[in-house]
Amino acid sequence: MNSLEETARALVAEGKGILAADESDGTIKKRFDSIGVESTEENRRAYRELLFATSGAEDYISGVILFDETIRQSAEDGTPFPKLLESKGIIPGIKVDKGAKPLALSDGETITEGLDGLRARLDEYRELGARFAKWRATYSIDADKPSEYCVWTNAHALARYAALCQEAGLVPIVEPEVLQDGTHTLEQSSKATGRVLQAVYTELHDQRVDYRGTLLKPNMVLSGYDAADRAGAEEVAGATLECFNKHVPAAVPGIVFLSGGQSDEDATAHLNAMNALGPHPWELSFSYGRALQAPALKAWGGKPENVEAAQRAYYHRAKMNGAARTGMYAPEMETAGVA
Ligand code: 13P
Repeated sequence: MNSLEETARALVAEGKGILAADESDGTIKKRFDSIGVESTEENRRAYRELLFATSGAEDYISGVILFDETIRQSAEDGTPFPKLLESKGIIPGIKVDKGAKPLALSDGETITEGLDGLRARLDEYRELGARFAKWRATYSIDADKPSEYCVWTNAHALARYAALCQEAGLVPIVEPEVLQDGTHTLEQSSKATGRVLQAVYTELHDQRVDYRGTLLKPNMVLSGYDAADRAGAEEVAGATLECFNKHVPAAVPGIVFLSGGQSDEDATAHLNAMNALGPHPWELSFSYGRALQAPALKAWGGKPENVEAAQRAYYHRAKMNGAARTGMYAPEMETAGVA
């Protein structure tokens, strides 16, 4: 096994998953606005330190995705964040895309930017301690979306990013996110997700990316958040597995789902339902942002005296998702031992 595959497999070790703490400046501002906290560099640092320093989280968290600012920051005692994570056996990673921008001549679709100069940036991030990277493409669903144009241009960019990562010795997390906003059905979500995955694996193969040294970070197949009759956990699990079994090569070590706009408990229940139907060709894990952080962010509220309560909330969600990795989660666990 080469080192890329070893890192990819360590990120989906049994009972563990990834914390996405790579919110861009704009996104973290939105999160802080929701709790009435100003998004200053120091507040962002203090909040990330709270998460990274949570004692015992390493039992459920294999890796953390950082943002450019965060990978350069340190804990209060001067320990650089990548070092702090490594000291707990958590693998540091880095978001390297520069965001989804309007796709030229399209009808409101997006293309993710960030390829120019990426080779040099990857070398720097590796020096700073990163061992894996993330690039997110987004697609929306409606009658004529995602278009073939959007599907293939984003697949091409994802594969260029992934090839550069492997050349630099970083595991690429390939994140094609079909947004689940709207009123679409489970079938429409499945169809769009399948088309996107098909294009992504075609481009990854054509651009010589070794699937064994990658992870996939996709959406789950869901009914639209505003759909009238939304599918329950069993249906979501069945539809997601059906779609991924058709489109994701077995050589991929793991699928680490994003949470999207799901509630934290739904994200856990859905992952659990899928793992309860295992074994599968790949590990099924999480790389959640909101679904791991929402209760912690709320409990913190920007106040130093709330750090411990926030850490307990984060630890609890990490533990619940750790249980969902093996299909051992039950909703009753939500109330047991949170205090
Ligand atoms: P969410 O789990 O909040 O969707 O965030 C995951 C992520 O990294 C999106 O790029």
